[in-house]
Amino acid sequence: MRELLLCPPDYYGIEYEINPWMNRARGAEAALAQKQWKQLHARLSNLDCEVHLISPQPGLPDMVFTANAGLTVGRKFIPSNFRHKERAGEQSFFAKWMEQRGYEVSWLPEYLYFEGEGDALFGGDALFCGYKFRSDIQSHRALADILGCLVISVELVDPRFYHLDTCFCPLPDGSAFWFPSAFDEYGQRAIRERVTGLIDVLPEEAMHFSCNAVVIERDIVLPEGAPQLVATLQDRGYRCYELPMSEFIKAGGACKCLTMFMPQRESAP
Ligand code: ARG
Repeated sequence: MRELLLCPPDYYGIEYEINPWMNRARGAEAALAQKQWKQLHARLSNLDCEVHLISPQPGLPDMVFTANAGLTVGRKFIPSNFRHKERAGEQSFFAKWMEQRGYEVSWLPEYLYFEGEGDALFGGDALFCGYKFRSDIQSHRALADILGCLVISVELVDPRFYHLDTCFCPLPDGSAFWFPSAFDEYGQRAIRERVTGLIDVLPEEAMHFSCNAVVIERDIVLPEGAPQLVATLQDRGYRCYELPMSEFIKAGGACKCLTMFMPQRESAP
């Protein structure tokens, strides 16, 4: 059974602006955010998985986005080194929580920025890692050394799609859905070469964070607003659950950003 880590949105809010979606003047509505998060929690809890919760912390409004806690492979946890000081305080809470549960914590050198599963997703036999806006490309080499697996670095070029999980979603059969123009030419080529059966997401659907989906075998939990993508996924035999995520999209996140797999893979391919 898959295990997931979520963080309740008790202290969630738009208190600073570190990506183009965030606007302090247009804050998130707390009650609606609670409702949307509870729907996500309930939906995931009803799938074949166990949901763990970490205690939210005052002053760390983005801690809800647990995908950025780090990357878990087997019993190994690699904590993030956040690029923005606004989020740096989350690191010790996540590392301590994982350590207390028996995970072996492997630190990256502190001068290398890396934002966890938000920028690191296994697809087929490789670990795809996004860089530029948040993670440093040099962190990918360090990850490959720790994990001993093939790491494919892909550059992100559209500031609205600043983490890999906003524009790329691997599927269990080795295919994926993605928003190609979020990547540079080389990144697009690298993904096309290694991933078969790619599904291109339309710009207007990608804008609703449609690639930011939690995939658990044949079940896919994604933000509402992508009828064409959902139809394609259903044709391929997936069950889709579309959830309202408006209050989290205001911070630049949705279903997948709010979830970390523990682990994402049992072992590095
Ligand atoms: N406001 C958060 C940030 O800018 C959102 C993080 C979204 N997380 C993700 N995995 N895409 O850091």
